[in-house]
Amino acid sequence: LFSAVEMAPRDPILGLNEQFNADPHPRKVNLGVGVYFDDEGKLPLLQCVRAAEKALMERPAARGYLPIDGIAAYDSAVKALVFGADSEVVQAGRVATVQALGGTGGLKIGADFLKKINPGARVLISDPSWENHRALFTNAGFEVGTYRYYDAATRSVDFDGMLADLRAAAPGTIVVLHACCHNPTGYDLTPAQWDQVIEAVRDGRLVAFLDMAYQGFGHGIREDGAVIGKFVDAGLNLFVSSSFSKSFSLYGERVGALSVVASDRDEAARVLSQLKIVIRTTYSNPPTHGGAVVAAVLNDPELRALWEQELGEMRARIKTMRSALVEGLKAAGVQQDMSFITEQIGMFSYSGLSKEQMLRLRSEFGVYGTDTGRMCVAALNSRNIGYVCEAIAQVL
Ligand code: LMR
Repeated sequence: LFSAVEMAPRDPILGLNEQFNADPHPRKVNLGVGVYFDDEGKLPLLQCVRAAEKALMERPAARGYLPIDGIAAYDSAVKALVFGADSEVVQAGRVATVQALGGTGGLKIGADFLKKINPGARVLISDPSWENHRALFTNAGFEVGTYRYYDAATRSVDFDGMLADLRAAAPGTIVVLHACCHNPTGYDLTPAQWDQVIEAVRDGRLVAFLDMAYQGFGHGIREDGAVIGKFVDAGLNLFVSSSFSKSFSLYGERVGALSVVASDRDEAARVLSQLKIVIRTTYSNPPTHGGAVVAAVLNDPELRALWEQELGEMRARIKTMRSALVEGLKAAGVQQDMSFITEQIGMFSYSGLSKEQMLRLRSEFGVYGTDTGRMCVAALNSRNIGYVCEAIAQVL
């Protein structure tokens, strides 16, 4: 039965973790996967999460099955976070939100649903994009192409190219967009550019699927989520996948969501019923703990304020590391101007290093980034940054 089964390649991001864990290098640093570590190099357990967990443990609940679409208080908190509690779309019942297994789960539920209602559609992702976007939509049965996004020569968004590609897309094309903190490049669109993208989506009758895995890591929770309001104001139906892996440091709990904006309440109810079929036939219903924690934090004003503060601290520390990286590279003797690192936003720096240079960093110095040159700035700290800068200087 399995004699013809081929060995699959390692995952380009999570596969690096396996390699990193097996690496005996004494000074190894993992800048591969998008995970935030504090200045001591530890994965934080947020105070707001601790408090919510403590309260949950004080009144332990039996673990029955959750509803297929998840905890109601979680889904409504996600709606409020993503669209605004008082927004017209939420008030009018036009949003169908389901709890999902991380942001990846939200993308997959959306992809499977889209495959049912629009089986012939093509999917366009940014060039480059998060490695898993292509694999996920391909696995869901779609042909996946790209729209231009990053211009390596100018280290900025090739916006004219992007717009031209969106304008050339056939009606019904599913366009995957990064709501904020573009992964991997760290270059986001300006509000005025988003307006033009929205116009192209509307004129071309495209389907926007916004991946919002890093809300709060760019400029702030509201600021990073503002683009969703723009799509809604334009009267578009859209898909939004959310992740709380990073923003709550709850990676292993797999807490995310999919929200679909429909035209009216009745349509939203029908969409929800179909999303539930996808979930039921994939993993039946979501797990309890992570969703319960996030719902408890988002629905409690004090814990919510604490979360915003802690998220703000993570955001600020990443910024500090960006500046320290630029300074450290200069101090390590790097001649070229690396100040672009402070212009990038979110967890990553798209360093411009070649695959060969990234492989040397890994094999000679134990410094792990992706083959494409992406490095997770959120994993730098005051202890490892000097070493990382020296290593980069050597390979440059
Ligand atoms: C990343 O891009 O490193 C993160 O989104 C983690 C992942 O699942 O790939």
